[in-house]
Amino acid sequence: MMVPSRHDLSLNGNLPQESLRQYRKISKTGRHDSNVHHRSDQARKMKTFMTGQGNGMEHGDWDRLSEEGLVSLVQLKTLPRHVAIIMDGNGRWAMGRGLPRVAGHREGVLSVREAIKVCRELGISALTLYAFSLENWKRPPKEIALLMDLFCEYFQSECEYFLREQIRFHAIGRLALLPQPIQTMISELQEQSKGYDQLTVTLALSYGARSEIVDAIKRLLHDVPRDPGSEGMISEEMFAQYLDTWNLPDPDLLIRTSGESRVSNFLLWQIAYAELYFTRTLWPDFRRRDLLLALLDYQRRERRLGGLDGTIDSLPPSFPQSSYFSVFHKERRHETTVPHISKAGVPPQNLPRPLSLASWLD
Ligand code: FPP
Repeated sequence: MMVPSRHDLSLNGNLPQESLRQYRKISKTGRHDSNVHHRSDQARKMKTFMTGQGNGMEHGDWDRLSEEGLVSLVQLKTLPRHVAIIMDGNGRWAMGRGLPRVAGHREGVLSVREAIKVCRELGISALTLYAFSLENWKRPPKEIALLMDLFCEYFQSECEYFLREQIRFHAIGRLALLPQPIQTMISELQEQSKGYDQLTVTLALSYGARSEIVDAIKRLLHDVPRDPGSEGMISEEMFAQYLDTWNLPDPDLLIRTSGESRVSNFLLWQIAYAELYFTRTLWPDFRRRDLLLALLDYQRRERRLGGLDGTIDSLPPSFPQSSYFSVFHKERRHETTVPHISKAGVPPQNLPRPLSLASWLD
């Protein structure tokens, strides 16, 4: 197989398709069509070429590629499993156009749709979107009301899409604070989509990470016996099961739009090892191309996860990254027996507590 030179890469997005097919095949099977034995070397060279690493292709060159060109550069094998996004800048987007703030939120819905579509297309397992924080309740009542209307409209219009595309829907946060019709829609969509596993889309609504942690501690205290020495039962992976995101792997990539470089009380426990990506693009302008750029940027980074090579296998069992793997898979197997901690519409304090987690984690 010919390894293309950089000049073969047309910047209008026409990647050498045959080469790309070969590359994907090698990456997947480790085998070359003609059974030549210098495969891994070929694959490595092609990977180097495709990612722009080591061949002089700079991050800035991506700007000149078409969307399809960018898609071709994405390596399916090293995509993040879980992408979390702080969608920011709707208000500024609208005000910059002399429009009311809600126009920015409305346009932001289109970006939400597009982000979900890209994740679905690429086979990313989880996407979590920060749609409304606990702090957002302090906004003027009119803006809150308009946002709630928008969420209602969103659930009405997207329900069919979620079910058709087999996307699992999940909501986290103090959902009991939301208007009752939204709680009902959330419960229904969660219930209808609970069997799907193509992609899990989680909306953080009325969400704040510190409250999530405090709520988790309260639930955990109910479960752990007050006997001397029982604190030994508590581990990172056990605690993570009391969080609203108990059914998700930790985010690998956290994106924030609009030029702010803060995490604003979003998934504080879960992003311990996430790669952070900040972009000046305002959320309503953040579309397919922008998400692809974020994914490519993520793929250029060396994730060592505190170790030397960043491989999950080399990590100790208590390490969150490895624990979420095992817990995630257990959760899938025990789907019907593990209680749902964060049921929509039920105040967190009154939720059915998890079964004694120690027993099913064993
Ligand atoms: C932050 O921008 C955005 C929000 C508080 C709301 C997010 C809502 C959407 C993206 C649209 C609806 C989403 C769904 C899932 C239907 P901001 O208003 O704080 O912007 P600013 O910082 O420019 O003022």
